Amino acid sequence: MARDNTQTDLHLPRHIAVVMDGNGRWARKRGMPRQFGHRSGVKAVRAIVRRCGELGIEHLTLFAFSSENWSRPQEEVTGLMKLFLDALQREVAELHENDVRLKFVGDLSRLSDRLQAGMADAEQLTADNTGLALQIAVGYGGRWDIVNACQRVAEQVQAGELDPADIDETSIDCSLALGDCPDPDLMIRTGGEKRISNFLLWQFAYTEFLFSDVLWPDFDAAALDASLQEFANRHRRFGGVRTLPTEEVG
Ligand code: FPP
Repeated sequence: MARDNTQTDLHLPRHIAVVMDGNGRWARKRGMPRQFGHRSGVKAVRAIVRRCGELGIEHLTLFAFSSENWSRPQEEVTGLMKLFLDALQREVAELHENDVRLKFVGDLSRLSDRLQAGMADAEQLTADNTGLALQIAVGYGGRWDIVNACQRVAEQVQAGELDPADIDETSIDCSLALGDCPDPDLMIRTGGEKRISNFLLWQFAYTEFLFSDVLWPDFDAAALDASLQEFANRHRRFGGVRTLPTEEVG
């Protein structure tokens, strides 16, 4: 993947998280079934992964299927699972060639054995890659993640490895599904809705949110670049005060 230098003067996020919304509406506008929208969504995933690689973004986390998405009609759930399996079979070799490290996060236990095995193989194949770290959230819910982390911490306490008085943010943080990633700097949600839908509840404490009306299948490299431009213009204070450039301070 060739490195693109055209945006290097921008302050880029280390970690981008994306809620890929709008596939169904995109398909409906074309008089097509929802699955057509999801399939087109995979093309947008490809474009965004490529662009993040070109820009040297370190982490990209995509919300592909939430813990609540299991309640969608069976036909849609089956279609999405088939799409994930197809995408694994078609895309992993190229991702590996491009030095992408893949990780699947979420409660994967409800997925088929075949899908779980494909995910584990893809993670193993790409584990030593040092380019873009691509996390795909499947069967993921932010509350599930926090409960899971609490259970892990409780196990450490029960085993006598941790004193309850020593439990701190780091104890929880490193027990979360994205424990080895920095918190997202930027969350992009496409499709016009302005909510986080049980995505990375803990990790979004100081994330910048950007809501786009573009439907996910239309979200391309140019749309990502525009989002990055907007991110670069934000002033992040992390609860502190804004530091003015020296000349403004006088
Ligand atoms: C939300 O749009 C989208 C999903 C629940 C599925 C997202 C999946 C993909 C983009 C494809 C596969 C991804 C990978 C990583 C291979 P929606 O169906 O809620 O759209 P709507 O709000 O317009 O109905």
